[in-house]
Amino acid sequence: MIMPYDDILSELSGLFEGEHDAIANAANAAAVLWQHLPDINWAGFYFLKGGELVLGPFQGKPACIRIGLHQGVCGAAASRRESLVVADVHEFPGHIACDGASNAEIVVPLLRGDTLLGVLDIDSPRHGRFTEEDRAGCEAVARAYVASLA
Ligand code: SME
Repeated sequence: MIMPYDDILSELSGLFEGEHDAIANAANAAAVLWQHLPDINWAGFYFLKGGELVLGPFQGKPACIRIGLHQGVCGAAASRRESLVVADVHEFPGHIACDGASNAEIVVPLLRGDTLLGVLDIDSPRHGRFTEEDRAGCEAVARAYVASLA
């Protein structure tokens, strides 16, 4: 499979250059992921606000707006502060089905040092869509995004 993260990171580096706005940079990151990654049906951000994850910029169908830190794949990745690659979301206890077409998911926490800012979430209709290379690529995207906010 084509692993387009070099292109994604290179494009984001240009888009983030000189821009620190959290919403603007998340919106462009979601758009770039959406354009480059095959077989996905949702890509976007949730931000930690008032102790829960609140929907941020995304591409795909409308999604659930608020997710508790112990709900779903997003809440699990956020509370554990670690990336989760889920081959079959229907096997994941508490998975939140925003789009019935989703079968696989990757969620990467956005961390500034020890501080959790939110998560990057990507869904796919294809079981087992996300690999360790996707984990490394999405973690690099998350790091680039957090670094852009400084
Ligand atoms: N499936 C996620 C909810 C967010 S949507 O996928 C956009 C979850 O279980 O946390």
